[in-house]
Amino acid sequence: MCGIVGYIGPKEAYPVLIKGLKRLEYRGYDSAGVAVLQNENIVVYKCQGKVANLENLVAKSEPLIGTIGIGHTRWATHGPPNDENAHPHSSEDGNMVIIHNGIIENYSPLREELIKRGHHFKSETDTEVLIHLIGDIRQNEDVTLFEAVRIALNEVIGAYAIVVMEKDNPNQLIAAKKGSPLVVGIGEGEFYIASDATPIIEYTKNVVYLDDEEIAIIDREDGFKLMNIKNQEKTPYVQELEMKLEALEKGGYEHFMLKEIYEQPRSIRDSMRGRLRPNSDQVELGGIRDYIKKFVNAKRIIILGCGTSWHAGLVGEYLFEDIARIPVEVEYASEFRYRNPVIYEDDVVIAISQSGETADTLAAIELAKSKGATIIGICNVIGSSIPRATHAGSYTHAGPEIGVASTKAFTAQVTVLTLMALHVAHQKGSITNQRLHRLLIELDSIPDKVQKVLDQNEKIKYIAEIYKDVHNALYLGRGYNFPVALEGALKLKEISYIHAEGYPAAEMKHGPIALIDEEMPCFVIAPRAGAYDKIVSNIQEVKARKGKIIAIVTEGEKLIKEMADHTIEIPDTEECLMPLISVIPLQLLSYHIAVMRGCNVDQPRNLAKSVTVE
Ligand code: F6R
Repeated sequence: MCGIVGYIGPKEAYPVLIKGLKRLEYRGYDSAGVAVLQNENIVVYKCQGKVANLENLVAKSEPLIGTIGIGHTRWATHGPPNDENAHPHSSEDGNMVIIHNGIIENYSPLREELIKRGHHFKSETDTEVLIHLIGDIRQNEDVTLFEAVRIALNEVIGAYAIVVMEKDNPNQLIAAKKGSPLVVGIGEGEFYIASDATPIIEYTKNVVYLDDEEIAIIDREDGFKLMNIKNQEKTPYVQELEMKLEALEKGGYEHFMLKEIYEQPRSIRDSMRGRLRPNSDQVELGGIRDYIKKFVNAKRIIILGCGTSWHAGLVGEYLFEDIARIPVEVEYASEFRYRNPVIYEDDVVIAISQSGETADTLAAIELAKSKGATIIGICNVIGSSIPRATHAGSYTHAGPEIGVASTKAFTAQVTVLTLMALHVAHQKGSITNQRLHRLLIELDSIPDKVQKVLDQNEKIKYIAEIYKDVHNALYLGRGYNFPVALEGALKLKEISYIHAEGYPAAEMKHGPIALIDEEMPCFVIAPRAGAYDKIVSNIQEVKARKGKIIAIVTEGEKLIKEMADHTIEIPDTEECLMPLISVIPLQLLSYHIAVMRGCNVDQPRNLAKSVTVE
């Protein structure tokens, strides 16, 4: 949450900053701001709203000239989104500015103390408190900028990724991280700082991901030096980025979300690449090779995640229990971390996260790790915090997901969970060779089957047109398709603001059936695989009460076609692989409904892509 970007080098800073902010806008879009050091003055522009508003504001003003600067796009935590609360924030004397992603938990006592010392605050943010504190130390303790930042960070409790720029220090930026991500790009005589690598990739492939409590001194003349808040020097580990620039562009699609939905045949294939060997009945997951015995001997698997990643985890529960015969508990990371959970040393914990930065998931990992459990990550963003906090894991390789609503990340997570469950089952001997062979062949065919669903986009759009004005919707599924029902409902509500709920279809009669009337659309995932007869009965129950049925059915389906108001046909597959196909029409339906309602599908209100606050 919140995107931060910084530049120091020979180029003009503003174009780098504004472009970087556009790339980071998925992290928050309540307000945006930049500060550039121009003719020995810090010039700040900031305003409420999207990065485009900031760009207009700067365009109407004097040109912003300078080769060192910082920028920020905000997702509000302390104080509403308005011009005053937008970053950058300045110190009391205006000599330094800061951008910040995270939350300073003890900002209130610090603020009171600073007010007693004569400080005045212009905003309600915790960030302004931090820069006043740094400024106060710098002024009163006669220390360097780095030292002032270091001392201040020892006083704060909470999470931060910050960059500080000072008027009298035109050759230096100080960046630090704890809990929130920060990466430094190292170019030829220039440096880029950002919340993730997306603003950096077009300039340099060499990056250093900061670890918690590390402080980077980035100096035009002296280069890059890494310290920590205990004032110890650290050796930076320079990594090479593998990301491609095209992956960050819309590539002709109207929205990132649509592009990402359409990328799924490729992204699922990429998640399997080098791992699935259908001809030799093998699954190879190099990332967990050293931990396979832990899986085989595990009495229990705990799967942690939030939102869509939690839904993928629920599919994982069905997979591991069904195929690998290991009991699984799927937990919301946010609940797990505060629940005093029982964790055993022989538990294997699988943490699922697209961004690899979700604060609750990270905290839940730390808790499980402290109790001795083995932590396996399934993440998309390479080098992010969660893969670094886990013992081992497998990347999903879906490529950057920019649309705030998760689509290709979900199918990639389910693909990796499927591979993991099959691999563990094979090692454990809980799956017959025939079943393994059948499933591997079938898994290999999933990308083509996903493409067949995408080819029905026009029909799905037609159905979206009919239901775009509803106020409520129900999503029903059974077995492996129950998590898909939850995911379908989440997709609809988060981008179109229609109230939607997902239920296991059989739970209908325990309450939700009372909601059914002729106004209520029920999206039912009813392929022939699984409890087909049961779901046919559930559809009849809804129809008997005049509800509308939009059913996702297997190609060639006849019975449900006679009962449903609309059907979308999907290719047949093994029951345990069905979520990879059945979720696709629901993603497209939500997308079209949201577009037809005039919603901003890539940046839905109040949301941000990477939830780095709890
Ligand atoms: C919904 C969505 C969110 C995320 C959740 C976890 O479309 O994207 O529900 O799934 O915030 O994020 P990650 O996977 O980054 O941990």
